[in-house]
Amino acid sequence: MSLSIGIHDLSLATGEFVLPHTALAAHNGTDIGKYHVGIGQESMSVTAADEDIVTLAATAAAPLIARHGTDRIRTLVLATESSIDQAKAAGIYVHSLIGLPSATRVVELKQACYGATAALQFAVGLVRRDPAQQVLVIASDVSRYDLDSPGEATQGAAAVAMLVGVDPALVRIEDPSGLYTADVMDFWRPNYRDTALVDGQESVGAYLQAVEGTWKDYTEQGGRTLEEFAAFCYHQPFTKMAYKAHRHLLNYCGLDTDPDTVTAALGQTTAYNRVIGNSYTASVYLALAALLDQADDLTGKSVGFLSYGSGSVAEFFAGTVVAGYSNHLRTDAHHEAITRRTEVDYAAYRALHEHRLPADGGDHATPAQTTGPYRLAGISGHKRLYTTR
Ligand code: HMG
Repeated sequence: MSLSIGIHDLSLATGEFVLPHTALAAHNGTDIGKYHVGIGQESMSVTAADEDIVTLAATAAAPLIARHGTDRIRTLVLATESSIDQAKAAGIYVHSLIGLPSATRVVELKQACYGATAALQFAVGLVRRDPAQQVLVIASDVSRYDLDSPGEATQGAAAVAMLVGVDPALVRIEDPSGLYTADVMDFWRPNYRDTALVDGQESVGAYLQAVEGTWKDYTEQGGRTLEEFAAFCYHQPFTKMAYKAHRHLLNYCGLDTDPDTVTAALGQTTAYNRVIGNSYTASVYLALAALLDQADDLTGKSVGFLSYGSGSVAEFFAGTVVAGYSNHLRTDAHHEAITRRTEVDYAAYRALHEHRLPADGGDHATPAQTTGPYRLAGISGHKRLYTTR
């Protein structure tokens, strides 16, 4: 009998601040309908000057360690596209902050928003090799576009930590996977830039093309039929994208795109992304968190995952929700992570957006802004300094 491997626990974290889209619309004269309805976004998380992908990742992962300990974790894979160093893996700082043992393999993975799905699939492979081990997978990103660019409305920040192991308490990951890679320049960030470059319309088209490609391969690999899925977790750069993608898939399969059917399949997956914004690698797993936290009872149901990363790589795979899963959810903590954010006005957001760590090699403390458990206290001799409260 094949092993049951999947997501045993899942926890999310997001930034200290939140900018409502009404404030952005008032600044740039956009009709708020474009944001609330056109792209399906209400607000976006903004990180404090003393937060980054490391503090977000550690904040997301710490509750997993508190619940399960560290004994079985021998690998930490941190997926990000907003990395803080070209050489050292951000996961090593996280490893230290959350107290993982030295006998741990730590590595960083990158392929735009797709990276966390690669991490999850690699984790399943490691667990299959040694079922006694667990893998800590963390997706952590801060999404940043240029001020006053079309992409600005689709920023955000979050981390999702997932413990992957045998006999998972939440979701069993199934074997067939649909894969699709195409060399496209829809979104990218050269090493010398700290904001992403994007061709917005091209990126939407590339995403839809990838939906077709992954689905075609998924069916050829012996996957489920579309009708077998209770819900679909799509990568959500903005929540309307999930609707575009699902309608595209239904059309491609010659199925009805009745709005009620589409909403039934997606409606419960968008609640967190709608108020957090694009969290790149974490986005598809925020969709899963929102679904599990809100749906009545998903026991035994199949969930489809469509992970897309610009550039581009995409994967479609399925998970089955495990009996008893609702006893292991962190719904209250997830709501707290979202509702505890402090609202900022446009001027404060702009100042945070423009904030950069000094690059002169001197000793610099960062402004104390975050109320979270971990902070980037400063930089000294080009070394980032983290503290725990
Ligand atoms: P834009 O030019 O600002 O907006 O770009 P638009 O003119 O395309 O309008 C957006 C929608 O709002 C349209 O609806 C309008 O009709 C509607 P649609 O035709 O799409 O159905 N609209 C209104 N609706 C109601 N009331 C109104 C109103 N006005 C207009 N008053 C875009 C939007 C998303 C392209 C831009 O924000 C952008 O470039 N974002 C960044 C790129 C992005 O998110 N791409 C998504 C696919 S690629 C991806 O997902 C990967 C990514 O996450 C990166 C990674 O992988 O690492 C980005």
